[in-house]
Amino acid sequence: MQPYVPPPEEIDEIQVKAPKYIPLKDHDTPVKVLFTGYLCTVAVGYLFAIIQILFTHGMADGKFGLSVDDIVYSYYGNRSGTVLETKLNGSMKDNASDQERFDIIQWVRDGADKDDYIDNGIQKIVENKCVMCHNKDASGLPDLSKFDNVKALSAEDTGATFASLTRISHIHLFGISFIFMFVGIIFSFAETTQTRIKCIAIGMPYVFLIADILSWWLTKIHPMFAMLVIIAGMGMGASFVYMWVVSLLEMWLYKPVFVSGLGIHYLQWRDNVKSETVGKIADYLFNLVRKFHPIYVMQKSWEIALPLLKNLWDFLLSKIKK
Ligand code: HEC
Repeated sequence: MQPYVPPPEEIDEIQVKAPKYIPLKDHDTPVKVLFTGYLCTVAVGYLFAIIQILFTHGMADGKFGLSVDDIVYSYYGNRSGTVLETKLNGSMKDNASDQERFDIIQWVRDGADKDDYIDNGIQKIVENKCVMCHNKDASGLPDLSKFDNVKALSAEDTGATFASLTRISHIHLFGISFIFMFVGIIFSFAETTQTRIKCIAIGMPYVFLIADILSWWLTKIHPMFAMLVIIAGMGMGASFVYMWVVSLLEMWLYKPVFVSGLGIHYLQWRDNVKSETVGKIADYLFNLVRKFHPIYVMQKSWEIALPLLKNLWDFLLSKIKK
Protein backbone atom coordinates (compact mmCIF):
# COMPACT_ATOMS: atom_id res chain seq x y z
CA MET A 1 0.00 0.00 0.00
CA GLN A 2 1.20 3.50 -0.83
CA PRO A 3 1.92 5.77 2.15
CA TYR A 4 -0.34 8.77 2.40
CA VAL A 5 1.20 11.82 0.70
CA PRO A 6 -0.57 15.03 1.66
CA PRO A 7 -1.36 17.51 -1.10
CA PRO A 8 0.91 20.61 -1.32
CA GLU A 9 -1.47 23.02 0.40
CA GLU A 10 -1.67 20.68 3.39
CA ILE A 11 2.13 20.40 3.58
CA ASP A 12 2.31 24.17 3.78
CA GLU A 13 -0.03 24.16 6.70
CA ILE A 14 1.97 21.51 8.54
CA GLN A 15 5.23 23.32 7.96
CA VAL A 16 4.02 26.64 9.33
CA LYS A 17 5.08 25.89 12.85
CA ALA A 18 3.35 27.72 15.64
CA PRO A 19 5.88 29.58 17.78
CA LYS A 20 6.53 27.80 21.07
CA TYR A 21 6.16 30.97 23.05
CA ILE A 22 5.55 34.68 22.58
CA PRO A 23 8.92 36.46 22.64
CA LEU A 24 9.16 39.11 25.33
CA LYS A 25 9.32 41.97 22.87
CA ASP A 26 6.00 40.90 21.26
CA HIS A 27 3.98 40.84 24.47
CA ASP A 28 1.27 43.50 24.74
CA THR A 29 2.37 46.67 26.44
CA PRO A 30 0.10 46.13 29.49
CA VAL A 31 1.73 42.75 30.05
CA LYS A 32 5.17 44.33 29.68
CA VAL A 33 4.19 46.95 32.25
CA LEU A 34 3.06 44.19 34.61
CA PHE A 35 6.32 42.25 34.15
CA THR A 36 8.38 45.41 34.54
CA GLY A 37 6.54 46.47 37.67
CA TYR A 38 7.11 43.07 39.20
CA LEU A 39 10.79 42.91 38.25
CA CYS A 40 11.49 46.40 39.60
CA THR A 41 9.68 45.76 42.88
CA VAL A 42 11.52 42.49 43.42
CA ALA A 43 14.82 44.25 42.68
CA VAL A 44 14.10 46.83 45.40
CA GLY A 45 13.22 43.94 47.71
CA TYR A 46 16.55 42.30 46.87
CA LEU A 47 18.37 45.55 47.72
CA PHE A 48 16.69 45.70 51.13
CA ALA A 49 17.58 42.06 51.73
CA ILE A 50 21.23 42.88 51.03
CA ILE A 51 21.12 45.87 53.40
CA GLN A 52 19.57 43.68 56.07
CA ILE A 53 22.26 41.04 55.62
CA LEU A 54 24.98 43.70 55.88
CA PHE A 55 23.55 45.01 59.15
CA THR A 56 22.90 41.72 60.92
CA HIS A 57 25.35 39.12 59.60
CA GLY A 58 27.73 41.76 58.24
CA MET A 59 28.28 43.23 61.70
CA ALA A 60 28.68 39.89 63.48
CA ASP A 61 32.46 40.22 63.70
CA GLY A 62 32.23 43.89 64.69
CA LYS A 63 33.44 45.13 61.31
CA PHE A 64 31.20 46.39 58.55
CA GLY A 65 31.03 44.22 55.43
CA LEU A 66 30.31 40.55 54.93
CA SER A 67 33.15 38.12 55.54
CA VAL A 68 33.56 34.41 56.15
CA ASP A 69 34.03 35.21 59.87
CA ASP A 70 30.60 36.83 59.94
CA ILE A 71 29.01 33.68 58.58
CA VAL A 72 30.88 31.49 61.03
CA TYR A 73 29.85 33.69 63.99
CA SER A 74 26.24 33.77 62.82
CA TYR A 75 25.73 30.04 62.29
CA TYR A 76 28.50 28.16 64.10
CA GLY A 77 28.86 30.76 66.82
CA ASN A 78 31.96 32.00 68.55
CA ARG A 79 32.59 28.93 70.66
CA SER A 80 35.40 30.51 72.64
CA GLY A 81 32.99 33.18 73.92
CA THR A 82 29.44 33.74 75.07
CA VAL A 83 26.46 35.07 73.15
CA LEU A 84 26.55 38.35 75.09
CA GLU A 85 30.23 38.81 74.39
CA THR A 86 29.96 38.04 70.68
CA LYS A 87 27.05 40.45 70.31
CA LEU A 88 28.65 43.21 72.37
CA ASN A 89 31.73 42.97 70.14
CA GLY A 90 29.58 42.58 67.04
CA SER A 91 26.23 44.02 66.06
CA MET A 92 25.46 45.47 69.54
CA LYS A 93 28.79 47.32 69.68
CA ASP A 94 27.33 50.79 69.13
CA ASN A 95 24.65 50.42 71.78
CA ALA A 96 26.93 50.93 74.80
CA SER A 97 30.21 52.68 75.58
CA ASP A 98 33.49 50.73 75.62
CA GLN A 99 33.58 50.88 79.43
CA GLU A 100 30.00 49.59 79.74
CA ARG A 101 30.64 46.77 77.29
CA PHE A 102 33.82 45.89 79.17
CA ASP A 103 31.90 45.80 82.48
CA ILE A 104 29.23 43.51 81.10
CA ILE A 105 31.77 41.16 79.51
CA GLN A 106 33.80 41.09 82.73
CA TRP A 107 30.68 40.17 84.67
CA VAL A 108 29.90 37.37 82.22
CA ARG A 109 33.44 36.00 82.45
CA ASP A 110 33.28 36.09 86.23
CA GLY A 111 30.38 33.66 86.14
CA ALA A 112 27.36 35.92 85.56
CA ASP A 113 26.43 35.95 89.23
CA LYS A 114 23.04 37.33 90.27
CA ASP A 115 24.32 39.42 93.22
CA ASP A 116 27.14 40.89 91.12
CA TYR A 117 24.57 41.78 88.49
CA ILE A 118 23.08 44.40 90.76
CA ASP A 119 26.17 45.24 92.86
CA ASN A 120 28.50 45.84 89.91
CA GLY A 121 25.94 48.09 88.21
CA ILE A 122 25.39 45.74 85.29
CA GLN A 123 21.62 45.88 85.73
CA LYS A 124 21.75 49.69 85.45
CA ILE A 125 23.71 49.53 82.21
CA VAL A 126 21.34 46.98 80.72
CA GLU A 127 18.28 48.97 81.78
CA ASN A 128 19.66 52.21 80.36
CA LYS A 129 21.22 50.91 77.18
CA CYS A 130 19.50 47.70 76.17
CA VAL A 131 15.95 47.42 77.48
CA MET A 132 14.55 50.11 75.19
CA CYS A 133 14.85 47.55 72.41
CA HIS A 134 15.07 44.32 74.37
CA ASN A 135 11.78 44.35 76.28
CA LYS A 136 8.76 42.12 76.53
CA ASP A 137 7.02 43.88 73.63
CA ALA A 138 9.85 43.22 71.19
CA SER A 139 9.05 40.00 69.40
CA GLY A 140 12.01 37.87 68.50
CA LEU A 141 14.46 39.68 70.80
CA PRO A 142 15.33 38.40 74.27
CA ASP A 143 13.70 40.48 77.03
CA LEU A 144 16.71 41.80 78.95
CA SER A 145 14.65 43.36 81.73
CA LYS A 146 14.52 39.88 83.28
CA PHE A 147 17.70 38.58 84.89
CA ASP A 148 17.12 34.98 83.76
CA ASN A 149 17.14 36.04 80.13
CA VAL A 150 20.40 37.94 80.57
CA LYS A 151 21.85 34.93 82.35
CA ALA A 152 20.81 32.64 79.49
CA LEU A 153 22.84 34.76 77.08
CA SER A 154 25.97 34.20 79.14
CA ALA A 155 26.10 30.61 77.91
CA GLU A 156 28.54 29.45 75.24
CA ASP A 157 27.78 31.02 71.87
CA THR A 158 26.80 28.19 69.55
CA GLY A 159 25.45 30.46 66.82
CA ALA A 160 21.99 30.27 65.36
CA THR A 161 19.62 28.11 67.35
CA PHE A 162 17.89 25.08 65.91
CA ALA A 163 14.54 26.86 66.25
CA SER A 164 15.64 30.02 64.46
CA LEU A 165 17.34 28.04 61.66
CA THR A 166 14.19 26.00 61.10
CA ARG A 167 12.13 29.17 60.98
CA ILE A 168 14.31 31.08 58.52
CA SER A 169 14.91 27.96 56.41
CA HIS A 170 11.26 27.39 55.63
CA ILE A 171 10.53 31.09 55.13
CA HIS A 172 13.43 31.36 52.67
CA LEU A 173 12.59 28.21 50.75
CA PHE A 174 8.94 29.15 50.28
CA GLY A 175 9.47 32.87 49.71
CA ILE A 176 12.49 32.85 47.44
CA SER A 177 11.26 29.98 45.28
CA PHE A 178 8.20 32.12 44.49
CA ILE A 179 10.35 35.07 43.47
CA PHE A 180 12.38 32.90 41.13
CA MET A 181 9.26 31.25 39.78
CA PHE A 182 7.97 34.58 38.45
CA VAL A 183 11.32 35.98 37.39
CA GLY A 184 11.97 32.65 35.64
CA ILE A 185 8.62 32.64 33.85
CA ILE A 186 9.19 36.16 32.56
CA PHE A 187 12.72 35.33 31.48
CA SER A 188 11.58 32.10 29.79
CA PHE A 189 10.03 34.31 27.07
CA ALA A 190 13.45 35.74 26.25
CA GLU A 191 14.65 34.90 22.75
CA THR A 192 18.18 36.26 22.66
CA THR A 193 19.62 33.68 25.05
CA GLN A 194 20.32 30.13 23.87
CA THR A 195 17.98 27.52 25.29
CA ARG A 196 20.87 25.79 27.04
CA ILE A 197 21.93 28.95 28.86
CA LYS A 198 18.32 29.80 29.60
CA CYS A 199 17.91 26.46 31.35
CA ILE A 200 21.01 27.15 33.42
CA ALA A 201 19.90 30.67 34.36
CA ILE A 202 16.43 29.49 35.33
CA GLY A 203 17.52 26.34 37.16
CA MET A 204 20.59 27.72 38.92
CA PRO A 205 18.75 29.81 41.54
CA TYR A 206 16.94 26.73 42.81
CA VAL A 207 20.15 24.72 43.08
CA PHE A 208 21.85 27.60 44.85
CA LEU A 209 18.84 28.26 47.09
CA ILE A 210 18.93 24.71 48.37
CA ALA A 211 22.74 24.82 48.63
CA ASP A 212 22.45 28.08 50.57
CA ILE A 213 19.96 26.77 53.14
CA LEU A 214 21.83 23.47 53.41
CA SER A 215 25.10 25.31 54.00
CA TRP A 216 23.58 27.24 56.95
CA TRP A 217 22.97 23.91 58.65
CA LEU A 218 26.35 22.56 57.60
CA THR A 219 28.05 25.71 58.94
CA LYS A 220 26.25 25.21 62.23
CA ILE A 221 27.98 21.82 62.37
CA HIS A 222 31.36 22.90 61.00
CA PRO A 223 32.71 26.37 60.14
CA MET A 224 34.42 25.22 56.93
CA PHE A 225 31.08 25.41 55.12
CA ALA A 226 30.80 29.16 55.65
CA MET A 227 32.34 29.79 52.22
CA LEU A 228 29.52 27.78 50.65
CA VAL A 229 26.97 30.19 52.13
CA ILE A 230 28.64 33.08 50.36
CA ILE A 231 29.13 31.26 47.05
CA ALA A 232 25.52 30.05 46.96
CA GLY A 233 24.26 33.54 47.76
CA MET A 234 26.36 35.03 44.98
CA GLY A 235 25.25 32.39 42.48
CA MET A 236 21.63 33.20 43.24
CA GLY A 237 22.30 36.91 42.85
CA ALA A 238 24.15 36.43 39.57
CA SER A 239 21.33 34.52 37.89
CA PHE A 240 18.81 37.03 39.23
CA VAL A 241 20.74 39.95 37.72
CA TYR A 242 21.16 38.16 34.41
CA MET A 243 17.48 37.24 34.00
CA TRP A 244 16.43 40.69 35.18
CA VAL A 245 18.65 42.60 32.75
CA VAL A 246 17.90 40.43 29.71
CA SER A 247 14.14 40.51 30.33
CA LEU A 248 13.98 44.29 30.68
CA LEU A 249 16.24 44.88 27.68
CA GLU A 250 14.22 42.58 25.45
CA MET A 251 10.96 44.20 26.50
CA TRP A 252 11.95 47.81 26.06
CA LEU A 253 15.26 48.10 24.20
CA TYR A 254 15.14 45.14 21.85
CA LYS A 255 16.14 47.01 18.71
CA PRO A 256 19.03 49.16 19.90
CA VAL A 257 20.59 46.38 21.95
CA PHE A 258 19.94 43.15 20.06
CA VAL A 259 19.20 44.07 16.43
CA SER A 260 21.29 46.98 15.27
CA GLY A 261 23.61 46.21 18.13
CA LEU A 262 25.08 49.09 20.01
CA GLY A 263 27.82 49.01 17.41
CA ILE A 264 26.20 50.25 14.22
CA HIS A 265 24.90 53.54 15.58
CA TYR A 266 28.13 54.10 17.34
CA LEU A 267 30.36 53.44 14.33
CA GLN A 268 28.25 55.78 12.18
CA TRP A 269 28.62 58.48 14.77
CA ARG A 270 32.31 57.71 15.32
CA ASP A 271 33.10 58.28 11.61
CA ASN A 272 32.06 61.89 11.96
CA VAL A 273 34.11 62.64 15.06
CA LYS A 274 37.02 64.92 14.15
CA SER A 275 38.77 65.38 17.49
CA GLU A 276 41.09 62.53 18.41
CA THR A 277 40.68 63.04 22.16
CA VAL A 278 36.88 62.93 21.96
CA GLY A 279 37.18 59.80 19.82
CA LYS A 280 39.44 58.07 22.31
CA ILE A 281 37.21 58.91 25.26
CA ALA A 282 34.17 57.76 23.29
CA ASP A 283 35.87 54.47 22.37
CA TYR A 284 36.73 53.91 25.98
CA LEU A 285 33.17 54.57 27.15
CA PHE A 286 31.74 52.45 24.36
CA ASN A 287 33.91 49.48 25.28
CA LEU A 288 32.95 49.94 28.89
CA VAL A 289 29.23 49.90 28.08
CA ARG A 290 29.72 46.87 25.85
CA LYS A 291 31.10 44.97 28.84
CA PHE A 292 27.64 45.18 30.39
CA HIS A 293 26.06 43.54 27.38
CA PRO A 294 24.19 40.53 28.78
CA ILE A 295 25.92 38.02 26.52
CA TYR A 296 29.35 39.36 27.44
CA VAL A 297 28.47 39.39 31.15
CA MET A 298 27.22 35.81 31.00
CA GLN A 299 30.40 34.59 29.32
CA LYS A 300 32.62 36.46 31.76
CA SER A 301 30.76 35.32 34.85
CA TRP A 302 31.09 31.72 33.74
CA GLU A 303 34.82 32.22 33.26
CA ILE A 304 35.02 33.48 36.84
CA ALA A 305 32.50 31.12 38.41
CA LEU A 306 33.81 27.85 36.96
CA PRO A 307 37.33 27.98 38.51
CA LEU A 308 35.74 29.12 41.80
CA LEU A 309 33.40 26.15 41.82
CA LYS A 310 36.25 23.84 40.89
CA ASN A 311 38.42 25.18 43.74
CA LEU A 312 35.57 24.72 46.17
CA TRP A 313 35.02 21.19 44.97
CA ASP A 314 38.74 20.35 45.35
CA PHE A 315 38.73 21.95 48.79
CA LEU A 316 35.75 19.91 49.93
CA LEU A 317 37.24 16.73 48.48
CA SER A 318 40.52 17.30 50.31
CA LYS A 319 38.61 17.89 53.57
CA ILE A 320 36.61 14.72 53.10
CA LYS A 321 39.68 12.63 52.25
CA LYS A 322 41.52 13.76 55.42
C1 HEC B 1 18.40 49.89 68.94
C2 HEC B 1 17.84 48.70 69.50
C3 HEC B 1 18.76 47.80 70.32
C4 HEC B 1 19.50 48.14 71.42
C5 HEC B 1 19.62 49.50 72.10
C6 HEC B 1 20.17 46.92 71.85
N1 HEC B 1 19.84 45.88 71.02
FE1 HEC B 1 20.51 43.98 71.16
N2 HEC B 1 19.48 43.49 69.46
C7 HEC B 1 18.74 44.36 68.70
C8 HEC B 1 18.31 43.66 67.50
C9 HEC B 1 17.46 44.27 66.39
C10 HEC B 1 18.84 42.35 67.56
C11 HEC B 1 18.68 41.23 66.53
C12 HEC B 1 19.68 41.39 65.41
C13 HEC B 1 21.07 40.96 65.80
O1 HEC B 1 21.23 39.86 66.34
O2 HEC B 1 22.01 41.71 65.51
C14 HEC B 1 19.57 42.28 68.82
C15 HEC B 1 20.20 41.14 69.26
C16 HEC B 1 20.86 41.03 70.48
C17 HEC B 1 21.41 39.81 71.01
C18 HEC B 1 21.32 38.44 70.35
C19 HEC B 1 20.05 37.78 70.80
C20 HEC B 1 19.92 36.38 70.31
O3 HEC B 1 19.02 35.69 70.82
O4 HEC B 1 20.69 35.97 69.42
C21 HEC B 1 22.00 40.12 72.20
C22 HEC B 1 22.70 39.16 73.14
C23 HEC B 1 21.83 41.52 72.40
N3 HEC B 1 21.14 42.04 71.34
C24 HEC B 1 22.31 42.21 73.51
C25 HEC B 1 22.15 43.57 73.68
C26 HEC B 1 22.72 44.29 74.79
C27 HEC B 1 23.53 43.66 75.92
C28 HEC B 1 22.36 45.59 74.64
C29 HEC B 1 22.72 46.77 75.53
C30 HEC B 1 24.11 47.09 75.61
C31 HEC B 1 21.56 45.69 73.42
N4 HEC B 1 21.47 44.44 72.88
C32 HEC B 1 21.00 46.86 72.95
C33 HEC B 1 18.43 45.66 69.01
C34 HEC B 1 18.99 46.39 70.06
